[in-house]
Amino acid sequence: MTGQFEQIQEAAAAISKVWSGSPSIGLILGTGLGGLASQIEQEAVIPYSEIPWFPKSTVESHKGQLVCGKLASKSIVAMEGRFHYYEGYSLAQVTFPVRVMKALGCHTLIVTNAAGGMNPQYSLADIMVIEDHINLMPDNPLRGINDDRLGPRFPDMCQPYSKELIQIARAAALELGIPTQQGVFVAVPGPNLETRAEYRMLKQIGADCVGMSTVPEVLVAAHAGLKVLGCSIVTDMCLPDHLEPVELPKILEVAARGGERLARLLPKVIEKMA
Ligand code: HPA
Repeated sequence: MTGQFEQIQEAAAAISKVWSGSPSIGLILGTGLGGLASQIEQEAVIPYSEIPWFPKSTVESHKGQLVCGKLASKSIVAMEGRFHYYEGYSLAQVTFPVRVMKALGCHTLIVTNAAGGMNPQYSLADIMVIEDHINLMPDNPLRGINDDRLGPRFPDMCQPYSKELIQIARAAALELGIPTQQGVFVAVPGPNLETRAEYRMLKQIGADCVGMSTVPEVLVAAHAGLKVLGCSIVTDMCLPDHLEPVELPKILEVAARGGERLARLLPKVIEKMA
């Protein structure tokens, strides 16, 4: 059986065969945020199905390809479409691409998602720069025997989201006149949305936004020693006393609006990065 370490190397080697770039930044594009990929000066586009050991994307709104090229003159790899726990993948599968990004030479991960806003000060299509997270997924991608070549047994979590990158993101947003929020993201397994009682609880435990992704990838990024910047787009307001049924088309429409802002913001952020 091929071990995880060898699988990562095989996937990275397959990508390097098609694309000779050496990326410093990995980017994960969340639900409805794929438009950002068109900003990339594309050098190679690799369907996940052509990368050994990559799971296949099952969500309609996700494309399922790795876009390799330049953004703000920096070499990057971007996932257009990510894997979710609710699709049935193990968290090892969900986070496998982050391992591959690290193996390709990335030192930074930028992760984006569509999320429900529980902070009443937030508005639809707002960008929330993630300051910290709460993990309510019923599993952990780091569970099991630790491979010391990939990271330490007990990774520290005192600052999984880089303070420096948060500052850069907020400064860039200010320069561009894009409003941003800053807050705590909580990850739930999905696929159902939350009940009013659950939103009330999630807000009370300290979360501003809720979503079904991101935290597993960030745990692995922290384990691998990657710097992380996380941005949520508020696609629906989750105020327990004013809760309305959400519809996927509506979420995608708002995500696209927020995505346009992100597509302006992220190149500026990357330009400012060391
Ligand atoms: N809950 C969980 N995930 C989400 C939500 C939500 O309200 N909105 C977008 N993703």
